[in-house]
Amino acid sequence: MSHYHLKSADAFQKAYQASVDHPEAFWDKIAKNNFIWQKHWYKTFEWDQKNTHIKWFLGGQLNITENLLDRHLIHNADKTAIIFEPNNPDEPHQEISYADLAKSVNKMANVLKDQGVQKGDRVCIYLPMIPELAITVLACARIGAIHSVVFAGFSSSALAARINDCQCALVVTSDGGFRGPKTIDLKSIVDQALENCPVVQRTLVVARTHQKSDMVPGRDLWLKPLFDQASDQCPATTMDAEDPLFILYTSGSTGKPKGMVHTCGGYMVYAAYTFKNVFQYAEHNIYWCSADIGWITGHSYILYGPLANGATTLMFEGVPSYPDFGRFWAIIEKYKVTQFYTAPTAIRALAKESLDFVSPYNLSSLKVLGTVGEPINEEAWQWYFKHIGGGKVPIVDTWWQTETGGVMIAPLPRITPAIPTYATLPLPGIQPVLLDDQGQEITETEASGLLFIKHPWPSIARTIWGDHQRYVQTYFGAQTDKYMTGDGATRDAKGNYRITGRVDDVIIVSGHNLGTAPIEDAINEHELVAESAVIGVPHSIKGNSLFGFIILKGHPDSEENLKSAINQCITQHIGPIAKLDEMVFTPGLPKTRSGKIMRRILRNIAQKNFDALGDTSTLLNPEIVAELIQVMQKKH
Ligand code: PRX
Repeated sequence: MSHYHLKSADAFQKAYQASVDHPEAFWDKIAKNNFIWQKHWYKTFEWDQKNTHIKWFLGGQLNITENLLDRHLIHNADKTAIIFEPNNPDEPHQEISYADLAKSVNKMANVLKDQGVQKGDRVCIYLPMIPELAITVLACARIGAIHSVVFAGFSSSALAARINDCQCALVVTSDGGFRGPKTIDLKSIVDQALENCPVVQRTLVVARTHQKSDMVPGRDLWLKPLFDQASDQCPATTMDAEDPLFILYTSGSTGKPKGMVHTCGGYMVYAAYTFKNVFQYAEHNIYWCSADIGWITGHSYILYGPLANGATTLMFEGVPSYPDFGRFWAIIEKYKVTQFYTAPTAIRALAKESLDFVSPYNLSSLKVLGTVGEPINEEAWQWYFKHIGGGKVPIVDTWWQTETGGVMIAPLPRITPAIPTYATLPLPGIQPVLLDDQGQEITETEASGLLFIKHPWPSIARTIWGDHQRYVQTYFGAQTDKYMTGDGATRDAKGNYRITGRVDDVIIVSGHNLGTAPIEDAINEHELVAESAVIGVPHSIKGNSLFGFIILKGHPDSEENLKSAINQCITQHIGPIAKLDEMVFTPGLPKTRSGKIMRRILRNIAQKNFDALGDTSTLLNPEIVAELIQVMQKKH
């Protein structure tokens, strides 16, 4: 029996049971029957728990682009692979067929090869949401180069750190990008970054905004002439199932971002499988995920998952508020979108606006609504269900992470029940467990605890680029036989999971995963700052807002100017997404005797929950609590 497309609750239950009873046989069959491999694997799964080496489909050979492109050319060459909706609704959109996408990918692959890029080399992609971004990602995959896409909202220092960490010799960027009413000068951000990246030999520049760009002789080349001349034929490089496909950076609890490494075989199988089932994608559907390809959601569910299934996937360059707050709904109507996947923060921001932005549009094409990136609150869920889904379109609240490669816990639309605020049930292959603070597995069904996953699934990240030890410690340090998610969760009597949020020093702001450490490092760069602590405070639209407690080592002329200078430091080192919403200057920070900042106390103080501080007498500096309360009371 094929478990690839689950069409009923019964099929789901059988698949789930099979995946737990015999994980290897389960994935073996799915991988064999639904993908093109150049060579079959000799072993389905290997897990060296001592060294934390996880492998799937060992010895199998493939090229993922043959599964994403070539195989669809036989019957579906003219089918639209990518719809590109530009930022400006008056600019013509593009519908790129599978045949044209394959040609462009081959051309780009040849351009990269001509520039000396070889299998295993790292290529940094810093582009706005334009077709060239998709094409470059796939071109890397075509020739076995490892892509590292950096979200084009990151600053030059963040970009430089990511380029240097995995030693990219080539960067693909654009002159600029359109985002709502703004034009962003991407090329000069790259120029600044590259001052600190001696490893980069070449940048290829896409002309998008046609603003003036300084082209560095010997380093920078416009892409178009090279692309136009390149052949549209390029053989797919043979890859081992376990060869890296891409690196994607995510925040961690130290300042250094973690370059999560995903591999060709397992990632392909899991991204494709989950796309098919979580969105119940059917022929002729028009699927739209509003994420940016700079995040894992865009990798797995704009490109790899949809294209592996021969789907039509929409890429949107702009923002939900431009030219007005009806843009998302206008796009759904324009293309008769059937599956729409977005973030709770976007839903909350749009729900705050008048329903007059929704009501003009015909949204009756929708069959599935999805959310991802953070817990969705009941109110936002209900608004989405009622006003976008017309009270009848199922919502899939999908829980997963950069590290997991694909959706882990989610309902299957019209197959398993959706429950507001719950990601509900694990997908086949996923075995969640809850642990208590002592690391013991909680056996009662109804419980709260730390969320771990028992058996590796095909698309688990294999390592952190250049730092396997950090990977081991972060994800398998607590339990060598279980993956630690870093999230807390509760489970109801029927086994449904509700994710309650991060239990570590990562804060999710507007769906972006931000580590407190890199933000604090950026704040501390300011010459007047001695030390700082950043915490998350619940926020009605962003999920969390960032609140900074800052110790100064001098006197500012103006506190207001200092606050904007500190935010400027953050913008420079990370990007505007990490700016503080609020900050206070304090004489000290509450610390344990071992010198660790007590963030729990700061969180309560920031929210003025002064009664919830608990026993503070064991602090190294208990007197600071009263001073902090005073600082907060003075703040209006
Ligand atoms: O805390 C969880 C939250 O986002 C974290 C992963 O962030 P990132 O690696 O950036 O990937 C985001 C897109 C997959 C998780 O540890 N998160 C993600 N989805 C949900 C969620 N929290 C609650 N419900 C979700 N559906």
